Amino acid sequence: MKKFERTIMITGGAGFIGNHVVRLFVRKYPDYHIINVDKLTYAGNLANLRDIENQPNYTFVKADICDYENMSRLLAENNVDGIIHLAAETHVDRSIKDPFVFARTNVMGTLTLLHAAKTYWEPQGWKVEGNPVRFYQISTDEVYGSLSFGDKPFTEKSKYDPHSPYSASKASADHFVRSFHDTFGMPVVLSNCSNNYGPYQFPEKLIPLFINNIRYRKPLPVYGSGENVRDWLYVEDHARAIDLVFHKGETYGTYNIGGFNEWKNIDLIKVLVKVTDKILGRPESADIDLITYVSDRKGHDLRYAIDSSKITKELGWMPSLQFEEGIEKTVRWYLDNQDWLDNVTSGDYQLYYESMYGHR
Ligand code: NAD
Ligand code: TYD
Repeated sequence: MKKFERTIMITGGAGFIGNHVVRLFVRKYPDYHIINVDKLTYAGNLANLRDIENQPNYTFVKADICDYENMSRLLAENNVDGIIHLAAETHVDRSIKDPFVFARTNVMGTLTLLHAAKTYWEPQGWKVEGNPVRFYQISTDEVYGSLSFGDKPFTEKSKYDPHSPYSASKASADHFVRSFHDTFGMPVVLSNCSNNYGPYQFPEKLIPLFINNIRYRKPLPVYGSGENVRDWLYVEDHARAIDLVFHKGETYGTYNIGGFNEWKNIDLIKVLVKVTDKILGRPESADIDLITYVSDRKGHDLRYAIDSSKITKELGWMPSLQFEEGIEKTVRWYLDNQDWLDNVTSGDYQLYYESMYGHR
C-alpha cells in the first residue's frame, strides 16, 4: 500500500508566501507528502516552519532549482506528481542592483524545473502512479506593467508589459511555463497575485521594514511622491487561493488574485504609523515625522490593481480578512517577534540550519 496519496514539491517553501503554503498543505492534507525545496537564500528561513517541521508528511530539502540533476533525482525518487513553484528572487530594488541573479533563478531556475518535470512526467503520459500531474507557476501582477489612475484593474487578458528586471524575469518564466504546455502538452496552471502582507516577510519589503523602523524611530524612506498605488492581500488569503487553483483551477488557466484593496503608499504608511504607535502605547501618530521622502525607485511602476472576479466566480475564492484587521494583526506579529526579525537579518538562521541538518 502506498504511504501517501500523492507527493507535491513546493519550491521556495522557506520564504514568505511559501511557508504559509507549506503549512496549509501539511496540515490540511495529511495524506499528501509535501517536499519543500529551498536553497535558503537570505530570504529563506527554516525558523518560519518550526511548528510543522516534525510532521510525518513533511520533508525539507536544501537545493537550488537551477540544479538539473538534483531536481530530476528529487522528482523521480519521490514520485512527485505536483509542483507548486514559488522559489524566486523577489525584491524589485535588488533586481535593479543585480538583475543577473533574477535571470538565473527566476528564468533559468524555472526552465530547469520545467525540463526536469517534463523529462520525468512525459514518458509516463503525464501521470505518476495513476495521478495526473500538474505544474503550478506562482506569479505576480507586476508582469502586467503599470496602470494610470482611472485605468481598469488588470484582468487575466491584460497584456504582459513588465518594467523592472524582477517583473521581466517573472514574465519570462510565465512564458516558459505556457510554452511547455503549448509545445509538449504539460498540464500547467498559473496565478498572478498582488502585493502580499503578513507574518514572516523579509524586512526589506515596505510593510515589515516600516513597522520595524517605527519601533526604533528610524526614518521611513518614501520613494518619490508616495503617490504610487499597490493592492494588498493578506498572505494566508493568497495561500488559500493557491490551494484552490492547484486543486480546481482549469489546466492552462490563469487566475488573478487580489484584495480589491488599493492603497497609495503614503496613506498606507500613515496607517502603519498610527497602528504601530497605538500598539506601542505611544501618543496618536507620534512618529509621523519619521516619514522622509527620498529619491524615487528607478522605473517605479505607478499603480497595480487587479481584478480577481474570475477566481471568485469560478472557484468561489474571496479574501477573508478586512485590511484594518490584517494590518493590526501584522503589526502585532512583527512587534511580538523581534527575535525573528533579529534572526533573519543577522543570518543566525543559517546556524540553526547547520545545527538541524549538519551542513550548510
Ligand atoms: P521570498 O523572497 O520571501 O522567498 C523566496 C524563497 O525562494 C526563499 O525561501 C528563497 O530561499 C527561495 N529561493 C530563491 N532562489 C532559489 C533557488 N535558486 N532555488 C531554490 N530556492 C530558492 O518570496 P515571496 O514573497 O514568498 O514570493 C514567493 C513567490 O510568490 C515568488 O515567485 C514571487 O514572485 C511570487 N509573488 C510574491 C508576491 C509578494 O507580494 N511577495 C506577490 C505575488 C507573487
Ligand atoms: P515593495 O514592498 O518593495 O513591493 P513592490 O515593489 O513589489 O510593490 O514596495 C511596495 C511599494 O512601496 C512600492 O511602490 C515601493 C515603495 N517603497 C518605498 O516607498 N520605500 C521603501 O523603503 C520600500 C521598500 C518600498
